[in-house]
Amino acid sequence: MRYIGVIYDSKQAYEAVSSALSSYFQFRKIPFEDCATDGALDASLNIFCVNIGDKTTFERVKGAIKNSQGETLFVLPTHNSDSISQLHHLTTADHFVLPLDAEQFRTATKSALNRSVEKTWSALEPVKQKALKSAVVSFGKCFDQVANGEPIPLDDIKDSCQHICDAAELGGLDNWINALDDHHDYSFRHSMFVCGSLTYFAHAMGICGAELDQLTLGGLLHDIGKSRIPLEILDKPGKLDDREWVIMKQHPVYSQEILDRENDFDANLIAMAVYHHEKLDGSGYPDGLSGAKINDHIRLTAIADVYSALIDKRSYKGSMTSEAALEMMGGFKGHLDMDLVREFRSFTLDNG
Ligand SMILES: [Fe+2]
Ligand SMILES: [Fe+2]
Repeated sequence: MRYIGVIYDSKQAYEAVSSALSSYFQFRKIPFEDCATDGALDASLNIFCVNIGDKTTFERVKGAIKNSQGETLFVLPTHNSDSISQLHHLTTADHFVLPLDAEQFRTATKSALNRSVEKTWSALEPVKQKALKSAVVSFGKCFDQVANGEPIPLDDIKDSCQHICDAAELGGLDNWINALDDHHDYSFRHSMFVCGSLTYFAHAMGICGAELDQLTLGGLLHDIGKSRIPLEILDKPGKLDDREWVIMKQHPVYSQEILDRENDFDANLIAMAVYHHEKLDGSGYPDGLSGAKINDHIRLTAIADVYSALIDKRSYKGSMTSEAALEMMGGFKGHLDMDLVREFRSFTLDNG
């Protein structure tokens, strides 16, 4: 079980960490005395809020780090240069000093958690490892560049897509989803869920060659317009309010603008990004398309997108099991193509 342990020896330090993290991450409160007697720490990330200027504390922290597999962050009560240089002898982990800059602290926490998730990829088949390691870099670069008004790094993205197609040949979609499940970069995680679901499913349906390449690339880029949505909306830990929804629902329109200006993408791929929120009964967005105007690639993207959203464990909603998500999707008759949902359901349940 992956979790953050907040190990503290003063109420003040704990409260600072707690108020920075509580809306965004789940964590366990561990009094320093308990950690010192217990010895082993099994958290994915240990955040030490302790005064390491104290010699006994320092020695105990040293022992605890030695016994831990997880990532480490430090929050020091004061800016004491002796403590900081001692800390640097002990570990390369980042440190913060009270009062905390909550935003920076959350970013460091997210990076440390992502490092711990990415380490677990080394247990996967080499082809899957390659696909995930390549995609985490290329997707991050793509999102950042597009957010800055720069072009999509298409060679990098296509290279990652090739590795994802290779990974799909091995099957095991559940394995792919599990490897990404705890990644804290929501846009990356969601896009990889969608891209993986589409590619693995399409491969199992016998789709190959240029058509499979297009579905993979379309899946990876399907929400590229979200790079233009303000982060406070995109990464909001709670439900969006009406005003925020209006802004969020602009993302397919932004995707169209971004993909149109590249000149590299055909209309079918762009349609996956622009229309995956359309519904067969015409009640979707952005254009209210219905029936035959929604082609098979868009229908597949919509299924992968809904499935990925339902099984995702965003902090405010909790995740659904694959079975429960597929069951629910079976009731989305005016929205999704039920023949494809049935095929997707048996593929997912049989092949995982
Ligand atoms: Fe979307
Ligand atoms: Fe999506």
